[in-house]
Amino acid sequence: MGCCWAHALFFCSSVFLTITQSTAVDTFNSSQPIADGDTIVSAGDTFVLGFFSPRNSSTNRYLGIWYRNIPGQAVVWVANRDNPINGSTGLLTVNSQGNLALVYNLNNGGSSIWSSNSSRPARNPVAQLLDSGNLVVREAGDDDNFLWQSFDYPCDTLLPGMKLGLDRRTGFDRYLTSSKAADDPSSGGFTYRIDPRGYPEIIQREGSTERYRTGPWNGLRFSGTPYLRPNPIYMFQFVVSDQEIYYSYLLDNTSTVSRLVLNQNGVIQRLTWSGDTQGWVVYVTAQMDFCDRYALCGAYGSCLRGFEPKVPNEWELVNWSNGCVRQTALNCSGDGFVKYSGVKLPETRRSWFNVSMSLEECRGNCLRSCNCTAYANIDIRNGGSGCLLWFSELIDIRELEDSGQDIYIRMAASEIGKEPELNYPKETVCVYTLLIQSFIPLFWLLHVEATGNSETNSKSRTRKQISGETRGDPEDNARFGAEKDDLELPLFDIAAISVATNNFSLSNVVGEGGFGPVYKGVFKDGQEMAVKRLSKDSTQGLDEFKNEVKTIAKLQHRNLVKLLGCCIEKEEKVLIYEYMPNKGLDAFIFDQKQRKLLDWPMRFQIINGIARGLLYLHQDSRLRIIHRDLKASNVLLDYNMNPKISDFGMARIFGGNQTQGNTRRVVGTYGYMSPEYAIDGQFSIKSDVFSYGVLVLEIICGKRNRGFYHEDHNHNLLGHAWRLYKEGKPEEVMDETVKDSSWVLSEVVRCIHVALLCVQQGPEDRPNMSNVVLMLSSDILLPEPTEPGFFTERKVFEQESSTNEITITLLTAR
Ligand SMILES: *[C@@H]1O[C@H](CO)[C@@H](O)[C@H](O)[C@H]1NC(C)=O
Ligand SMILES: *[C@@H]1O[C@H](CO)[C@@H](O)[C@H](O)[C@H]1NC(C)=O
Ligand SMILES: *[C@@H]1O[C@H](CO)[C@@H](O)[C@H](O)[C@H]1NC(C)=O
Ligand SMILES: *[C@@H]1O[C@H](CO)[C@@H](O)[C@H](O)[C@H]1NC(C)=O
Ligand SMILES: *[C@@H]1O[C@H](CO)[C@@H](O)[C@H](O)[C@H]1NC(C)=O
Ligand SMILES: *[C@@H]1O[C@H](CO)[C@@H](O)[C@H](O)[C@H]1NC(C)=O
Ligand SMILES: *[C@@H]1O[C@H](CO)[C@@H](O)[C@H](O)[C@H]1NC(C)=O
Ligand SMILES: *[C@@H]1O[C@H](CO)[C@@H](O)[C@H](O)[C@H]1NC(C)=O
Ligand SMILES: *[C@@H]1O[C@H](CO)[C@@H](O)[C@H](O)[C@H]1NC(C)=O
Ligand SMILES: *[C@@H]1O[C@H](CO)[C@@H](O)[C@H](O)[C@H]1NC(C)=O
Ligand SMILES: *[C@@H]1O[C@H](CO)[C@@H](O)[C@H](O)[C@H]1NC(C)=O
Ligand SMILES: *[C@@H]1O[C@H](CO)[C@@H](O)[C@H](O)[C@H]1NC(C)=O
Repeated sequence: MGCCWAHALFFCSSVFLTITQSTAVDTFNSSQPIADGDTIVSAGDTFVLGFFSPRNSSTNRYLGIWYRNIPGQAVVWVANRDNPINGSTGLLTVNSQGNLALVYNLNNGGSSIWSSNSSRPARNPVAQLLDSGNLVVREAGDDDNFLWQSFDYPCDTLLPGMKLGLDRRTGFDRYLTSSKAADDPSSGGFTYRIDPRGYPEIIQREGSTERYRTGPWNGLRFSGTPYLRPNPIYMFQFVVSDQEIYYSYLLDNTSTVSRLVLNQNGVIQRLTWSGDTQGWVVYVTAQMDFCDRYALCGAYGSCLRGFEPKVPNEWELVNWSNGCVRQTALNCSGDGFVKYSGVKLPETRRSWFNVSMSLEECRGNCLRSCNCTAYANIDIRNGGSGCLLWFSELIDIRELEDSGQDIYIRMAASEIGKEPELNYPKETVCVYTLLIQSFIPLFWLLHVEATGNSETNSKSRTRKQISGETRGDPEDNARFGAEKDDLELPLFDIAAISVATNNFSLSNVVGEGGFGPVYKGVFKDGQEMAVKRLSKDSTQGLDEFKNEVKTIAKLQHRNLVKLLGCCIEKEEKVLIYEYMPNKGLDAFIFDQKQRKLLDWPMRFQIINGIARGLLYLHQDSRLRIIHRDLKASNVLLDYNMNPKISDFGMARIFGGNQTQGNTRRVVGTYGYMSPEYAIDGQFSIKSDVFSYGVLVLEIICGKRNRGFYHEDHNHNLLGHAWRLYKEGKPEEVMDETVKDSSWVLSEVVRCIHVALLCVQQGPEDRPNMSNVVLMLSSDILLPEPTEPGFFTERKVFEQESSTNEITITLLTAR
């Protein structure tokens, strides 16, 4: 099963073997076994087959395949993952029947620890390591028909061209099984496997417990995987036929190195090699967030319209596992359907489908069967087609803002056509999602505590913390003052955070925030979070910490980074955020290689997303917030490359009427500060608009405003863009190396125009963010910009040295 065959040891018959030296060939036959120390290399120099020891184990030897030219020996396949050979006596042979055998201790009679099983007897078999990473056995001279291939026995990695799925004719099933640890390839507890029952989908399990599912395929992608869309890296497909069900992908450019991995924590990630940073970059993660946890909310998700919590008490104690029940029971004959839009379709295990049925027929079929609970189109392309019916409670529904699909749920007649006030309003959905996301760490906490050696009262203590009776150490609460009433955040236990970050180990540091280092934390169940820790003796930092908590705890927007909780215990002040594997925007736009991952549609999406986030800060939230430090490194990218504004340490909250403030302590970052702020300390929503304009130009140009150099003039990026705009060729702002086939001239020009409006000298001339969002998304005529503020670098330096009381804090980018 899976990759690695655990055969009982048996003694090798006396085969005569000549041990060959290490060669650069990719093929071997029965008279050329591979000994420990030898390797074979695929023809294109991409993969190596050989024996290896994981970093930390000196005597355990495994036969595996890894990338030849990538440092760190990223192993993509292991033959004997659960049966290591002790010592270096291993030998890989292909016998005359075409079976591979891994034997050891030949000097003492020899034992076999692993073998393959050819699909049919062979005459003159050879084994070959292909450049795809596939180890195959075939007849000499026949390149196409494999007697056996390693691609059929995946370990934790799905390489391009591999199939994840099953052959319905033979029942043969290929799925991923995680490794125990980064340095232990033996089978771990997680699997990622197609479930063929009902309409197929892929399910990730821990042991036999479902943890995550992709949702059913809808013609374009899986219902719950909005990130699976056309992209510059790979093409994907999901095949459902009478013969086979499988998912597979191919790379657009074979010189890209990219693989899909089920890691030791159960997280499914696409990793792409970055030659620039000499590291693997997480391109996409299947589990988007906590709401992706299987059946987090029990039946009927977050209580869709017409449903209510089954056990209200538990629900209030943020235990949603009992799910929801109908407000009005069904009555077979008199029922109808209510359409819910934008959802991840529920689990399909007990579903029925017909790909050629229309939605009308589908409805009729569902109505006729009293235990049919919902229906939907199977394929959402071309207006929708096919019919999917559910016959059980609807489990693991979730709302997906933009990319969900429609489902029609059976409801009692009296529930149909109710007024929209009973509708589940979109805002409530968002708040709801927030609730889940904010509180879910408590479950982990409970889990951590329950499995740890903590005292028995820890559980009740956590409960109290939820209900707000106590919030950590009383002394700290006193120091935190009246603000504590504003904090409606889950509190984390410092011990759990410590475990998750390896005792705040240096190797977990992923960046530097406004007031201290940011660590990556991996919590008990594999969820990753960003942990921001206030340096112990920073008083200025303490203010910023409080500021950040106060500010962001009240904010929720898809373009703002989410605060999940905090910890205030003794000397420790820690904030816990959703983890952004793609890090800051600066790591993409200013990086020679990474920038290629951002095509124009992505850049345009980022430009728009930041605008919406800023608009929310400025006027759509209950508060008016000036960020004061908007810059590329403070815009983080999520798994889908959605931008999220972060770092609210400098932010100022204004009352309803106030539009402008003044400070003697100018904080912010060079190159992004508006003139009136840098010089006079005057900040307003318009100083943020200025920073936004700078950021847009940087996104388009791929260069920093600060330090921008052009041989023709000594202007900075703003001056450069202004010059080109005046000369009637604004599109030349876009760097040649950034241009690709995807760019849309009219959009680029419009963005540059809007950016120039944002960076005008006079704050009153700059548009506000609602104008910006409007201008970016429509064809309205744009006003002519006037000269930008600060368009030469020199001016800035002069200003700085002549104004002594201004301290310009240069925050180091991560
Ligand atoms: C194995 O290959 C070598 C050269 O590639 C050839 O000389 C030898 O005869 C082959 N052995 C068998 C058993 O086919
Ligand atoms: C190596 O193994 C030891 C014991 O098995 C463990 O304590 C240590 O953390 C491991 N080191 C690394 C780098 O994984
Ligand atoms: C591996 O072999 C060495 C020496 O041959 C022996 O000392 C050691 O105990 C063996 N380890 C295991 C796990 O069998
Ligand atoms: C090898 O395959 C044959 C038929 O394909 C099967 O009968 C046999 O049991 C298999 N052997 C092992 C060890 O799986
Ligand atoms: C593939 O990538 C390489 C290196 O990044 C590049 O030189 C080559 O032009 C690309 N090929 C295609 C077809 O895009
Ligand atoms: C939630 O409720 C279920 C059923 O009532 C119970 O089994 C479970 O332990 C509860 N979970 C937590 C975290 O309290
Ligand atoms: C079911 O609905 C029909 C029509 O609305 C009604 O006549 C009938 O009494 C209902 N039956 C029950 C058991 O409620
Ligand atoms: C699927 O639906 C089509 C169109 O209604 C129908 O002709 C066909 O018989 C159905 N197939 C099955 C297996 O029910
Ligand atoms: C629907 O319910 C009937 C009886 O209650 C049962 O016989 C039938 O198997 C159910 N159908 C499905 C698809 O669950
Ligand atoms: C973390 O620190 C505690 C106390 O300082 C220590 O007991 C523990 O061994 C440390 N754990 C690790 C993984 O370093
Ligand atoms: C705005 O300011 C005016 C006068 O300065 C005041 O009357 C009004 O109440 C203020 N509105 C809010 C929402 O603070
Ligand atoms: C934004 O600007 C427009 C026009 O310049 C104005 O009508 C609108 O009231 C402004 N919005 C805010 C929130 O200031």
